[in-house]
Amino acid sequence: MLDIAEIKTIEHDVLIVGAGGAGLSAAIEASSLGMSTGIVMKSLLGKAHTVMAEGGMAAALGNVDARDHWKIHFRDTMRGGKFLNAWRMVELHAKLAPERVRLLEEWGAVFDRTKNGLINQRNFGGHRYPRLAHVGDRTGLEMIRTLQDYGIHQGIQAYMECTALDLLTNKSGEVCGIVCMWRETGTFIIFKAKSIIFATGGGGKAWEVTSNSWEYTGDGYAMAYEAGAELMDLEFNQFHPTGMVWPLSVKGLLVTESVRGEGGILLNNEGTRFMFNYIPERFRSETADTEEEAARWLKGDPNARRPPELLTRDVVARAINEEVKAGRGSKHGGAYLNIATQRSAEDIKKKLPSMFHQFKVLAELDITKEPMEVGPTCHYFMGGIRVDADTTMSSVPGLFACGECAAGMHGANRLGGNSLSDLLVFGYLSGKNAAEYAKKVATHSELDKDKVIRIIRNATTILNRESGANPYLLHEELEHNMQANVGIIRTEKELNKGIDTLGKIKEAYKTVKAKGTSQFNPGWHEALGLRNLLITSEAVAHAALLREESRGAHTRADFPGEQEHWLHYNIVITKGDDGEMRLVKVERPAPDAELERIAKSSIDTLEMEIEKEREQGKT
Ligand code: FUM
Repeated sequence: MLDIAEIKTIEHDVLIVGAGGAGLSAAIEASSLGMSTGIVMKSLLGKAHTVMAEGGMAAALGNVDARDHWKIHFRDTMRGGKFLNAWRMVELHAKLAPERVRLLEEWGAVFDRTKNGLINQRNFGGHRYPRLAHVGDRTGLEMIRTLQDYGIHQGIQAYMECTALDLLTNKSGEVCGIVCMWRETGTFIIFKAKSIIFATGGGGKAWEVTSNSWEYTGDGYAMAYEAGAELMDLEFNQFHPTGMVWPLSVKGLLVTESVRGEGGILLNNEGTRFMFNYIPERFRSETADTEEEAARWLKGDPNARRPPELLTRDVVARAINEEVKAGRGSKHGGAYLNIATQRSAEDIKKKLPSMFHQFKVLAELDITKEPMEVGPTCHYFMGGIRVDADTTMSSVPGLFACGECAAGMHGANRLGGNSLSDLLVFGYLSGKNAAEYAKKVATHSELDKDKVIRIIRNATTILNRESGANPYLLHEELEHNMQANVGIIRTEKELNKGIDTLGKIKEAYKTVKAKGTSQFNPGWHEALGLRNLLITSEAVAHAALLREESRGAHTRADFPGEQEHWLHYNIVITKGDDGEMRLVKVERPAPDAELERIAKSSIDTLEMEIEKEREQGKT
């Protein structure tokens, strides 16, 4: 009989799961407020997926174009998210991002500089002004390096190679702990905490072609769902337009949007700069529609309109998809991305050192001389755990969520660069609010022993059954199914097929078997992550079927275009008492009138208003 008294238990006031930019920001804030703070991660400190946001962090610092302002960043983000974003989250993000970026600099981040010595900012899709504070094309890496260094010196306790299995709640339904497993030894550990923050990232490992690393198995979504939390907007999965398509061994690996931000152009196999043919009506007045206009922008003319390669990611990804379908794709089934004709070799090596290196080493290609081949790759979840905008607390008391695993901030489509600043802003807010929550909890709750045993048994059964389905093969089947049936363009027929297949994979998962012992056993780890990916995939597929419109990153070929009706609803997902997934259309609260006015103003009106406020010393 399992004796839980023999399982080591560690207590913290605040425990964070996930050590990317959001988790580390949260941990720093909670510990600065005097909380005993632990941070649990599946991988090693410094190896989070945050490094895959390469191009920069968006904040209206106004260092390169002084006209920038939080209101314009707010407007761009709402429009990019097709107005489905949580208004208050976008407001908080736009207002707080500049100070969080400056703080990161104070903590040691070495940003690229303008000639005047300010933090340099570059252009990115959907942002009106050069807004991305950056470190070459390694910005996420610099963020992680800075935060981990600062956090560890401040006293946060890091638990590496430790997989979180499931949450524990007390008799009042509040979160009070989590059961984890040391990957190296296969032994279990219980963390008791007064509040828990999930910063577990997304679930892109459900698709075949993905920029996501192995950690991205939807753990936060699944654990929160199992604990009774609400998930929201899971149908919005961002396909970054530019992943590598060749060689196959690195298919999906990110090619940063900075290539286009630095002037890179997209061409089809006829040599046509095809993005000029895909400018949506609503962006016409803001987007260059001739080569000449786009060239003026590249020369730094502040009044030139932006090239169509910098339209939002949903538009660019669909355009590449269309070109390939029409037989105009590149040799290996993507599009050509050319920076060599646009910038000098010296500039390319200086601004895009990782891309230069990545293509040289992995594809034997010199991007200062030849075009790259790129195509859409699953990159980011806009949806996730439903949270309160100000506190970031989920519907389960004491459970907070921030970063990619939280829903709301990015609506139907995220603008590039808004992820890193989201991690800083909402990581900070999560840390602060989880600390305040923990301060009000007098003592750690008693453990629910039966629940602990159930969690451990669920995990060990995978090792102990005699035979069963191979976790690697099931994962492969899942990836194939999601790619084919729940991909970039969706239809009712394919989604239903995808849901049927998911049902079969779920059935097979009930017998999943990992061979070998519990000590560093990758097959077992794979099987544990697969439970979470299956819950995540089911939520995505069902939500995608329910939303009968095309909005942002969710494209239904059978329901083209945005439907006014759907603007008023989010899809919220919970686990029913019968154990089945429940999806409900939940009406969105009416926006704050002033925020709505800002988002819907014409750019000229807004710029005039900001100029006037500045003259009057109001802003
Ligand atoms: O393309 C990129 O560098 C990715 C950035 C992001 O997803 O924010």
